[in-house]
Amino acid sequence: MEEKKTYQPIGIFDSGFGGLTVLKEIVSELPQYDYIYLGDSARAPYGSRSFETVYEYALECVEHLFNMGCHLVVLACNTASAKALRTIQQKDLPKIAPSKRVLGVIRPTTEIIGKHSKTGHVGVLGTQGTVNSESYLVEIEKFFPELKVYQQACPMWVPLIENSEFDNEGAEFFIKKYVDELMAQQKNIDAVILACTHYPLIQDKIKKYLPKNVDLLSQGSIVAKGLKDYLQRHPEIEKECSKNKLLNFYTTDLPETFDKAASLFYGEIVKSQHLDL
Ligand code: DGL
Repeated sequence: MEEKKTYQPIGIFDSGFGGLTVLKEIVSELPQYDYIYLGDSARAPYGSRSFETVYEYALECVEHLFNMGCHLVVLACNTASAKALRTIQQKDLPKIAPSKRVLGVIRPTTEIIGKHSKTGHVGVLGTQGTVNSESYLVEIEKFFPELKVYQQACPMWVPLIENSEFDNEGAEFFIKKYVDELMAQQKNIDAVILACTHYPLIQDKIKKYLPKNVDLLSQGSIVAKGLKDYLQRHPEIEKECSKNKLLNFYTTDLPETFDKAASLFYGEIVKSQHLDL
């Protein structure tokens, strides 16, 4: 009997480009699967938008990814994970796709952060939206109630990165400013989460302004390992993910514009297609 050919890629969603830093690590950890990356770059950034708007946009994109064959979707965006994930998982999935799953990027990081701190003081650098949502405070409390968490919003970092201005003097000013503001809250912070998928691009510059003993955690590899572990623990979901090593990129904006910035984030040439919402 001829084997049924299936295309059920894992969907990786982000407001724009940042999720590509996560996709890269996921593909490297789990190269056997098919992936669709969807960047809602026409409506990015999400970081300064309201709960309602981020939820509405994220849900719309998740539904598109389901329609494109995905059984499992990762919200590779902290802002969307903070503001939309819980509602999608608890309210929408049971109605629209009870056997499908949507995961985020916050939990895998908060599950391990305690192992990286000796002082018990940890920092979170994120967008205004992620910080205001207090999702990191709530999630870390579940796994490591003894930890003290200090948050710092860094609203200038995403625009500086997206406009390729992060190698300039002006960028140094804003990188130092937010790092200093975080450390001024508590000088004994010894572990810091990069709670925005854009920030790995300026990781070395952030490190420069942090005390030497501070462990700076970038999410890509943590999320990739978390996904591997999830697929091992959930064979019923794993068997719904097709394995032909196909990788397709979609943007809600112009593919030419997306591809230019996307290649910088992904570290390889990206050729995307337009998706009409
Ligand atoms: N990708 C988003 C995050 O990780 C940042 C970009 C945005 O504000 O849309 O929070």
